[in-house]
Amino acid sequence: MSTSTPTLSQDELKTRVGQAALDYVLPGDIVGVGTGSTVNKFIDALGTMKDRIRGAVSSSEASTARLKALGIEVFDANAVERLSVYVDGADEIDPRGHMIKGGGAALTREKIVAALSDRFVCIADESKWVPVLGAFPLPVEVIPMAAQQIARRFAAWGGSARLRLKDGLPLLTDNGQQILDVTGLQITDPLGFENTVNNWPGVVTVGVFAHQKAHVCLLGTAAGVKTVTF
Ligand code: 5RP
Repeated sequence: MSTSTPTLSQDELKTRVGQAALDYVLPGDIVGVGTGSTVNKFIDALGTMKDRIRGAVSSSEASTARLKALGIEVFDANAVERLSVYVDGADEIDPRGHMIKGGGAALTREKIVAALSDRFVCIADESKWVPVLGAFPLPVEVIPMAAQQIARRFAAWGGSARLRLKDGLPLLTDNGQQILDVTGLQITDPLGFENTVNNWPGVVTVGVFAHQKAHVCLLGTAAGVKTVTF
């Protein structure tokens, strides 16, 4: 009989962290809900306790549709003053809880809901854990008429910005704007980087989450779900 630990697929790791995040949801909560394949696992898990929560504030049309399909009420962000918890995935997370987000193009609404929340619980498989942010192409939501001047600003920093396409056309976010994906950056000062880029005219949101960093990361590893607090 083999005693070796079975290797868990990335999908299974996502399922486990999605379920583990339920521990951070309190009865009666309106829960802040992010976007992406890991969050989809959390939404499915949340469905099992839907009668014990009031509902959710969602960060994307895709998450809203999934929540509603499970019978979870979705509140407008303007209808709530504070949320106790926001649960979302990440494209990268560093040892201080700073993240790159926006691989699913939902970064602006994600930052808005995170800013409403007392605690950001990041759920991620261990492939997302990095010493320094920047290997994942950095998403930046931009006003279309500013896209090329913003791309030139990144080029001056050694970055290369590419307009995100869908079916051969510029992808439009839920806010009707475009996404630049920027490669070639090493983001050693996430807070300073976020402050600077967010001030460039035409930037809606940069996908560095330093102001809205994670308070807790539930990291899916081969050895189980590891809890990291920042
Ligand atoms: C969407 C996001 C996601 O949280 C991020 O892309 C991670 O997604 P996934 O869980 O599918 O790997 O920021 O805008």
